Amino acid sequence: MEPVWNAVDEYFNDRLHLSDTVLAAALEESTAAGLPAINVTPAQGKFLALLARMGNARRILEIGTLGGYSAIWMGRALPSNGTLITLEISQRNADVALRNLERAGLTARVKIMVAPASESLDRLIADRGEPFDLVFIDADKERSVPYFDAALQLTRPGSVIVVDNVVRDGAIIDAQSTDGNVQGMRRLTERVAREPRVSATAIQTVGSKGYDGFIIALVQP
Ligand code: DHB
Ligand code: MG
Repeated sequence: MEPVWNAVDEYFNDRLHLSDTVLAAALEESTAAGLPAINVTPAQGKFLALLARMGNARRILEIGTLGGYSAIWMGRALPSNGTLITLEISQRNADVALRNLERAGLTARVKIMVAPASESLDRLIADRGEPFDLVFIDADKERSVPYFDAALQLTRPGSVIVVDNVVRDGAIIDAQSTDGNVQGMRRLTERVAREPRVSATAIQTVGSKGYDGFIIALVQP
């Protein structure tokens, strides 16, 4: 039986108008190109967009572009002089994302860096650009700690760092888990807990993507 939370996501998608032709087309293109359906949900995309707007984000960094679905949500939340840099290891995914971002009219504001994220992050750190106001980490779960460390170097007090997929159907509490993704998120949680530069929480989520959650960290003075 389909869990009730799918129906609830549909209810809110419908009532709160959480999709449109551009967003729907992005998902259709992603599916047609064979990308896995692991994009954020419409409700989560709107949540990221609202976070960006609440923090007046002008510079956003995303680690893990996939088909560009969350990039459309966050890109739309930017002011006209804003920038979203999104990091993607796969040229194939980036090609899909670029088409989706073109359809969304966002290519002036959104830049895709195609390389292993650790290389792109090293480059961004070396470039010493303006800090990012919002970072969304949604990539290789085993590398969550190095991505978080890089995010800390690329932000400022007041910036927000969001990490996707920290609950994994509840597996996060299994210290013996042989799943590298779970262990990656456990290491991240320990890392965040010991980091005095952030104040963080974790929010469990259910919806059409099942049971998972976010860590949300505020970079503090
Ligand atoms: C997976 C990755 C994601 O970023 C996600 O949101 C859900 C699942 C995965 O690799 O299985
Ligand atoms: Mg994810």
